[in-house]
Amino acid sequence: MDSRISKRASAASDSITLAITAKANAMKKQGHKVIGFGAGEPDFDTPDNIKEAAISAIKNGKTKYTAVSGIDELKEAIIEKFRKDNHLEYGKENILVSCGAKHSLYNIMQATLNEKDQVIVPAPYWVSYIDQVMLTGAKPVVLKTKNFKIMPEKLEKAINSKTKMLILNSPSNPTGAVYTKEELKKIAEICKKNNILVISDEIYEKLIYDGEHYSIASVDEEMKKLTIVVNGVSKAYSMTGWRIGYCAGDKDIIKAASQIQSHSTSNPTSIAQWAAVEALRGPQQFIEKMKFSFKERRDFMVKSLNKIKGVKCDLPAGAFYVFLKVSKLYNEQVKNSADFCTQLLEKEKVAAIPGSGFGDDNYIRFSYACSMDDIKEGLERMKKFCESLK
Ligand SMILES: Cc1ncc(COP(=O)(O)O)c(C=O)c1O
Repeated sequence: MDSRISKRASAASDSITLAITAKANAMKKQGHKVIGFGAGEPDFDTPDNIKEAAISAIKNGKTKYTAVSGIDELKEAIIEKFRKDNHLEYGKENILVSCGAKHSLYNIMQATLNEKDQVIVPAPYWVSYIDQVMLTGAKPVVLKTKNFKIMPEKLEKAINSKTKMLILNSPSNPTGAVYTKEELKKIAEICKKNNILVISDEIYEKLIYDGEHYSIASVDEEMKKLTIVVNGVSKAYSMTGWRIGYCAGDKDIIKAASQIQSHSTSNPTSIAQWAAVEALRGPQQFIEKMKFSFKERRDFMVKSLNKIKGVKCDLPAGAFYVFLKVSKLYNEQVKNSADFCTQLLEKEKVAAIPGSGFGDDNYIRFSYACSMDDIKEGLERMKKFCESLK
């Protein structure tokens, strides 16, 4: 081990996602037509009204430090959003604006977790949860799910005196699973009984095709006090590069998370904050248009994948990913999800993400945040690759 590097940093995992993406990019540079099913961001441009708001902010000199926790105008827009969409009432003291939802998650974990605390992370999980928990010195406890959802009896069994937090993500990356109100109420009962904090990552809230979004924080006042809701503008408004996320929760936790932010990044970019005000308060039709395209692509992708022998996937209710089981096709050369994705990329020039990074090696993740033409071409190549494995 390199003694210059801290134990914390050494424990952070190398991202297999980044490795595959880097390889795909190198192949593209060499002139190969790579089909990218790896994307974690919408393939739509940020709407013009949002860009204009950022340009006005620059022209009007809104280019200086802001309050660490965000400008009042954005906090007010976030409070309105929670009231309108989630029937949740918050004050400004309950809101922290950060540099993307990932940063919100990081700040909350740094503000609440101590060494030896345990955090329950249902699998499949979004890759960064595990590393972010470990960066605090706490221990992630991976919880197996059924049909990609928590089984309440298993959750109850996983809880012990060290359990401090549960991480929920609905709609989920990578599975697209969306919890119903009834399911969340059962989980909430267990969390309340055991006084467990919940981080509810709702970044894909606006991208639901079947069913509707429900926040566990809206179960009742007691659950609201235990929950820190994380959301942001990255996915809903195709603003991944602008880096604006936010969280809402108990004022003492938010204050502690703001302290962490104040000594690390200070405020998120002033210009992007003004753009986020326009995203939340301006016309919302963009989301419906994007959702319409995503749904069409999802339906086509799932139907086509299920026609391939050895591949199986359910219809995901939200987000823009299909998590497909490919383990039936594993053989001497393709032993796991990393082999599968590496060879799919090398042989057929299709980039996808191995399930091992999400805690399930039987699966791989396809993103449908790409054109229908690319989806059609990529699925043809995928079929050819799967047939070659038999
Ligand atoms: C489940 C989940 N949470 C949080 C994030 C981070 O979002 P942001 O780009 O706002 O940091 C992502 C991004 O991929 C995600 O998939």
